[in-house]
Amino acid sequence: MAHTWLEEIINAGDTTVDATMGQGFDTAFLAGLGSKVFAFDVQQLALDMTRERLSHAGVTAELILDGHENVDQYVSGEVKAAIFNLGYLPKSDKKLITRANTTLTALRKLLEMLSNKGRIAIMVYYGHDGGETEKDAVLAFVSSLDQKQYQVYHYGAMNQVNQPPFLIMIEKLG
Ligand SMILES: C[S@@+](CC[C@H](N)C(=O)[O-])C[C@H]1O[C@@H](n2cnc3c(N)ncnc32)[C@H](O)[C@@H]1O
Repeated sequence: MAHTWLEEIINAGDTTVDATMGQGFDTAFLAGLGSKVFAFDVQQLALDMTRERLSHAGVTAELILDGHENVDQYVSGEVKAAIFNLGYLPKSDKKLITRANTTLTALRKLLEMLSNKGRIAIMVYYGHDGGETEKDAVLAFVSSLDQKQYQVYHYGAMNQVNQPPFLIMIEKLG
């Protein structure tokens, strides 16, 4: 769903951001669209896995070993789209999670950098320790965005047990 929604507006040559690289699925997706991708993660393992995935796919991206909260130090100009997958890297250290303060810093910066009609997709996984706090902070932040400047959508399963992930989609109005 997130990919379909982002794909609608990304053209070859656009600047895009994968804020949480992980295993590189989203980085490879964005690079496959021909966009110039800046991908962030705080774990070297994520960069190694992503580099391999990109190589197999025959695409390239800028892989950055730093937190997404520093996005403005690496990316200049307008960003057409960004994607977040909150939580931890599967099969890795479950304590190394995305956190509310850095996630919100990155979101604020990316909303500033976003072009008109640009989009941000945030997949919220929150079943782990610390996940609820981040989920609540992200929901409060996106709910408070000015409706004259942004459209914010919430998409998720109604009948799944436990804490099913859900998707937040933000579009900047032109
Ligand atoms: C749920 S995983 C991402 C999954 C990824 N989208 C994929 O395709 O595999 C979350 C990732 O965010 C990373 N992370 C945690 N804090 C971060 C931060 N401040 N900046 C960037 N990445 C961060 C973790 O290391 C982890 O790899």
